[in-house]
Amino acid sequence: MNDRQSEIGSYEQLAEAPGRRKARAPRPVVCIQGLGFVGFAMAVAVADAREPDGSPSFNVIGIDLPTAEGKEKVRTINEGRMPLVSADRDLEAAFLRTVQTGNLVASTDPAAYRLAAVSVVDIHLDVEQEDGAPKVRLDGFRAAIRTLGEHMQPGSLVIVETTVPPGCCEKVVAPTLVEALERRDLPAESILVAHSYERVMPGREYFRSIVNFPRVYSGLTGEAADRCEAFLRKVINVADHPLTRLQSTTASEIGKVLENSYRAVNIAFIEEWGRFAEAVGVDLFEVLEAIRVRPTHNNIRQPGFGVGGYCLTKDPLLGQIGARDLFALPDLGFPFSARAVKLNSAMPLVSLDKIRGRLQTLAGKTILLLGVSYRQDVSDTRYSPSETFVRHAEREGARVICHDPLVCEWTELDRRLPSELPSPEGCDGIVFAVPHRQYCDLDLARWLGKARPVVLDANNVLSRSQRETLQRLGCPLTSIGRGT
Ligand SMILES: NC(=O)c1ccc[n+]([C@@H]2O[C@H](COP(=O)([O-])OP(=O)(O)OC[C@H]3O[C@@H](n4cnc5c(N)ncnc54)[C@H](O)[C@@H]3O)[C@@H](O)[C@H]2O)c1
Repeated sequence: MNDRQSEIGSYEQLAEAPGRRKARAPRPVVCIQGLGFVGFAMAVAVADAREPDGSPSFNVIGIDLPTAEGKEKVRTINEGRMPLVSADRDLEAAFLRTVQTGNLVASTDPAAYRLAAVSVVDIHLDVEQEDGAPKVRLDGFRAAIRTLGEHMQPGSLVIVETTVPPGCCEKVVAPTLVEALERRDLPAESILVAHSYERVMPGREYFRSIVNFPRVYSGLTGEAADRCEAFLRKVINVADHPLTRLQSTTASEIGKVLENSYRAVNIAFIEEWGRFAEAVGVDLFEVLEAIRVRPTHNNIRQPGFGVGGYCLTKDPLLGQIGARDLFALPDLGFPFSARAVKLNSAMPLVSLDKIRGRLQTLAGKTILLLGVSYRQDVSDTRYSPSETFVRHAEREGARVICHDPLVCEWTELDRRLPSELPSPEGCDGIVFAVPHRQYCDLDLARWLGKARPVVLDANNVLSRSQRETLQRLGCPLTSIGRGT
């Protein structure tokens, strides 16, 4: 830490540093640790929270690591620009309000935690495979919590939003904070730890899914839970979306992991029905619509290209990890969840099989892949099914041209993508992988011109009229989940 870093004395001082915006009033400070997809949006939501008189409730400091990427996010936010591409106008509008108000700044300086009445942990926690078993490396997570403990004032509240293995707040966060405070000769009993999980859905409802969504929370102590509730009441529209308090942080951690495991298993379950429907000439989407009218079945999932993103690909494995590593219950293997993750990760290979089947071989063929982010209306490409598809297709000798309206740098594949929709001319196959609006609205007859490639609708992207157009044009069409 350099001299300047250790000198932060107030929010105003940080906000008025060169290149930062001016803070207009002293308010309770909330620090958000981690300025990723969740942390940035949460920082905006907290900075946008208002008192009954319309004045902002908090001054917010978003803190990221002093890495090249972290510094870039901090610089971008402090310059009043969004650090990510988002299809949600509400998020951008709320961010611009914070720019006007001057109550959101970003920093890489951990000394800022000393100003916090509340610190919200929104850092990542990756799941890795080691000798065939899922593992989380807690070192980075522990180091982040230790940093909080090294700087925060006794009595300030720590809310963990990071998705963690159940048991983590009690068995990892609390002991790490206690140790750090004791090193500073501060009373260990002053720590206040709560857990409240994010249900944020990056996409068109990004901002709404934070502030207009029911929340679950809990605290390690009654006081921590009360303080967490008071904080959430200011940020979330609790009049329409009530809060649910659970008995323990472990219960709240289980809530998050179980929710996402349920969704992943639901998707994997539908996968086998998709294959059946395709083989026997049934439109499974139509069947599922008919089933969804039953209130007991209204959230049944549907066939698709694959499951990607940072959550459903790893969260179902956190139950097993928590049971094994934090509660010494190694025999609880969570077989449904583990199988779902495996099945879901192989889904893009079904699409690959289909297009290969239509083209006889992939060697020497040119395929246009439309959509590389993990879901519609998001720019996040982490663990995207498109990545699996491209890697396998290219291994078999195909040339894959990729496009995504929200992605210009595909970092995982180290590729720059064209901003304009590529011409289908010269393509042997086209895969509609992600239902981005641009593809759903595409005038196929016009775009295809004289090209007649094989088309795979891998994710229910095309409307009935688009499918009819393809038929009329004589373009061979095949679909995931829809038999012909
Ligand atoms: N992305 C989603 O849709 C979503 C939804 C709900 C919950 N979650 C959970 O929220 C958490 C964050 O996810 P994300 O998608 O925002 O991840 P992310 O990778 O986009 O962001 C994490 C950020 O934390 C920063 N960071 C890491 N260690 C830090 C430290 N010690 N100090 C300060 N910053 C640090 C990283 O540099 C990065 O910018 C994860 O646990 C995830 O599972 C994500």
